[in-house]
Amino acid sequence: MANKLWGGRFDKKTDPLVEEFTKSIHYDFKLAAYDLVGSMVHVEILRKAGYLTAGEAARLHNGLKYLHAQVIDGKFKPDDSSEDIHTDIQNKLYKRIGGLALKLHTARSRNDQVVFATKLYSKTELLKLTAYISELEMALGQLAEKNGGLIIPGFTHMQHAQPVYLADYLASYSEMLKRDYDRLWAIAGGIKLTMGAGAMAGTPIGAASYIVKASGCREMKKITGQFEIQPARNSLDAVSDRDFVIDILSALSILGMHLSRFSEDMIIWSTKEFGFVEIDDAFCTGSSLMPQKKNADTLEIVRGYAGRMCGNLVSVLTMMKGLPLAYNRDMQLDKEPLFNSLEIALIEINILNRLVKTIKFNKANLEEALDDESLYATDLVYHLVDKGAPFKTAHTIIGKLVKYSVDNSILIKTMMDSELKKFSDKLVRKDVIKLFNPRVSVESRKSVRR
Ligand code: ARG
Repeated sequence: MANKLWGGRFDKKTDPLVEEFTKSIHYDFKLAAYDLVGSMVHVEILRKAGYLTAGEAARLHNGLKYLHAQVIDGKFKPDDSSEDIHTDIQNKLYKRIGGLALKLHTARSRNDQVVFATKLYSKTELLKLTAYISELEMALGQLAEKNGGLIIPGFTHMQHAQPVYLADYLASYSEMLKRDYDRLWAIAGGIKLTMGAGAMAGTPIGAASYIVKASGCREMKKITGQFEIQPARNSLDAVSDRDFVIDILSALSILGMHLSRFSEDMIIWSTKEFGFVEIDDAFCTGSSLMPQKKNADTLEIVRGYAGRMCGNLVSVLTMMKGLPLAYNRDMQLDKEPLFNSLEIALIEINILNRLVKTIKFNKANLEEALDDESLYATDLVYHLVDKGAPFKTAHTIIGKLVKYSVDNSILIKTMMDSELKKFSDKLVRKDVIKLFNPRVSVESRKSVRR
């Protein structure tokens, strides 16, 4: 059993089941690099405040730097018997530099430490994720360019609505991703790194010592650059605030929902019934029983994970809602949902970036679908409006015409003037047939800037 950061007032050993039940090392080991950066900053603060000599600070710093390098090189092995990553780092530092390591926890509490590490982790991951989102936006743009000019049937209520450019359809997902990017970027920027809250009541160190400019060593620096640390404005809030976790989980739930909707469209479009797209073999799987099957499982898992991301949000939000101030151990349970949603988002966007590049559109099937006359009913209404009919009247006339066509299985395109006249004097075959044209239809709509 690893050393604990507490224990003096206890006579008995912790029940082994409770030990297992309360530990978090099996997931919070992911915070190692960030906790180490926080500890290096803390050493600097202790030196400024006179708790450490320059020599002691240097030895502590070197020990922490050694452990940080181990994390970066993948050589850091968390000890499963440690209560959490903060304990594990303390123990490893003790092994490395001896008794001086025991000074590291001066004027510090894990309650404050865990918030710092989680915030720095979140900022770093969000910066990575926003870069990936930009790439996906670009991939969608390239897909649109590659299929320049292609027109697809647009749907509302899953029923044929009006023809639209494929580029506009794809750009609608880019719009969603732009909002996701902005939301996540704003959250990352809004996360303020603070120290000095202690367990909840502050520490004896003057606030000025907590104003530090720092950077995460080497690799992390590349991503986060320099960041500022401030003394907490309110120590109770600092240790018990998980708004940033909830903000991230909320923004990720929205991102997950967008990716799920895109996946759903692609899944439906890749069915025999639609046949609009072909999803590359590399992103599909087969059936153990039915040899003909090629299923878009990747997209189904993206769709499925949207539920998980939403669940992660609800889990933390619900966990927080009844907590009295300040820190409570319940808060330890914020990490798995946070890590999980961020990891899902990163892998999904990474995969979609590659999947999107391979999507092939089936021109012949799209053209066949665009043959459906119902897609041009609205154009017929506008045609009558242009000829002076009130919109409502025109709508009713074309509604009747469509019904007549469906009931009698006669295409409007094939109707003669005499037949069209039964519905309106303004309907003349030579004009009407020109309207059943996808390009004419999309070009007639001018309200949206492209
Ligand atoms: N592993 C804990 C967490 O993630 C660290 C804080 C424990 N603090 C305490 N006072 N027991 O929240």
